[in-house]
Amino acid sequence: MALTLDKNWWRQAVIYQIYPRSFKDSNGDGLGDIKGITSKIDYLSSLNVDAVWLSPFYPSALADGGYDVDDYRDVDPKLGDLADFDEMLSKLHGAGIRVFVDIVPNHSSNLHEWFKEAIAAEPGSAARNRYIFREGKGANGELPPTNWPSHFAPSAWSHESTQGGKHNQWYCHLFAPEQPDFNWDNREIEEDFLKTLKFWADRGVDGFRIDVAHALKKDLSEPLKDQERYPDLNNRKPGENILFDRDDVHEIYKEWRQLFNQYDPPRVAVAEAYVPADRLALYANPDELGQAFNFELLEANFNAHEFKTVIDRGITAAKAQGSSSTWCLNNHDQMRPATNYGLLTTVDRIRWKNSGGTTNPLDEELGLRSALAASMLIMALPGCTYIYQGEELGLFEVLDIPEDQIQDPQYLRNHKVDKGRDGCRVPLPWTKSGASFGFGTGGAHLPQPNWFAAKSVEAESGVADSPLEIFRTALALRKGLVTDEELTWHKTTDANVLHFSRPNGWHCLTNFGRNHYSFAGLGEILHSSSPLAQAGIFLIHGVQTSGNDLPPATTVWLKGPHA
Ligand code: NOJ
Repeated sequence: MALTLDKNWWRQAVIYQIYPRSFKDSNGDGLGDIKGITSKIDYLSSLNVDAVWLSPFYPSALADGGYDVDDYRDVDPKLGDLADFDEMLSKLHGAGIRVFVDIVPNHSSNLHEWFKEAIAAEPGSAARNRYIFREGKGANGELPPTNWPSHFAPSAWSHESTQGGKHNQWYCHLFAPEQPDFNWDNREIEEDFLKTLKFWADRGVDGFRIDVAHALKKDLSEPLKDQERYPDLNNRKPGENILFDRDDVHEIYKEWRQLFNQYDPPRVAVAEAYVPADRLALYANPDELGQAFNFELLEANFNAHEFKTVIDRGITAAKAQGSSSTWCLNNHDQMRPATNYGLLTTVDRIRWKNSGGTTNPLDEELGLRSALAASMLIMALPGCTYIYQGEELGLFEVLDIPEDQIQDPQYLRNHKVDKGRDGCRVPLPWTKSGASFGFGTGGAHLPQPNWFAAKSVEAESGVADSPLEIFRTALALRKGLVTDEELTWHKTTDANVLHFSRPNGWHCLTNFGRNHYSFAGLGEILHSSSPLAQAGIFLIHGVQTSGNDLPPATTVWLKGPHA
């Protein structure tokens, strides 16, 4: 299937996120790789996705799962080489699937040539000026230069001696010490990233996901200032925070857009930026990245009012910028939705995860039903649907990874306060049995639980009402149903049920409540996230149901009258 030439292909696309090291291992070394992805293009086609987004596959010592990049213009030899990448890209394109790569511009890894050079260089040298090196405080410079916090360690500063430096300076890292931040006030950095973007765009890459897009510019004027409070976004005028979401970051993206527009079709980009909704819209400006992730559903409970509020806000904000919204229920940083929705809303998820899931019961059936209902709801919204690998299998979070096998710096670096993100990064199960459930011929770099057998692609393929087949049918239908980016809300007689339609009469109803809801007379049933005919078995009030009743935690799509 050929790629369309439509410049707006991205506005309502379905994008499948691949975490390459955990997708498919082609050589039995326990790590997923590029050839593994190529070998599963038929699977991606069977899902009817428009694009894949690959989390970093660049050379990396994996201090942060690949978000610590040694070389931005190469493939990690553990995962393949550029020829493998080109082959994968051309075969994906041949199957009508576009490709996004992840760009990590805030920081490199400590093994990047430039950082090694900087550590070996003199204070004040051009090599050190590519990063953020400063003298420490205290009589002998023994204290960090400022109080800036890191996401993974208490301080955003490490002494250069920890990296073999022979002087008395500190370097800045908003994430792990192995992820030194670039100095974006240095034109050389701007030019190097333009070169990187061009490198991948020239190879045919269609889009870019921009990591921590809001952090590149910092207030580096001397003397450096302490952060008053963290996060400091409310203390200062928007755009004037010391570390995040500064107004001047947008100059970078305006220049990137000029480069993207030199291609036909223009390259697209989506910002990962944790900033308030009104500020997020700036990144999504068509003169800049063009789109930004809306992460608000990740925080929402499975609740009609919360979902509606987020949806309205997201659509309004995207429209105001001429962008389209993005919808996601998870990614490689978040707890799996089937687990998330199976927990009572009052549970502190971090503490619960740390307990190995033992402190509170998990209602797996309700969690999975709710996750599938939420997925079919977001697929019906105007804008892009993001799917994170394994979501289509209804995978739960893996909660019992032994401590000595945890890889995530969020846990290792942060006093083991939060067990971290490995539980959603366990290699995918492809088959019911065999070494690593078909992930590869060897082991898996994170341990897979036995319940993966029943959640494997093999176990779910062809089984009506399995999560995989619910996704496949929904995404195949979606292709023919997507229309103008308009949505009309319809009144329901139950506040726990949301009902909206799209201009061509595509109606979507989601029941967030505990009672059945009748949709008799609204239209012809196209698809549902749980079986409708068996609705009665889910009843809690013992009411008999028919195929026109929407059971709890279910979404139904109907072909009804035009809105
Ligand atoms: C956001 C990425 O999604 C996350 O996985 C990573 O740890 C941080 N950025 C740092 O790059």
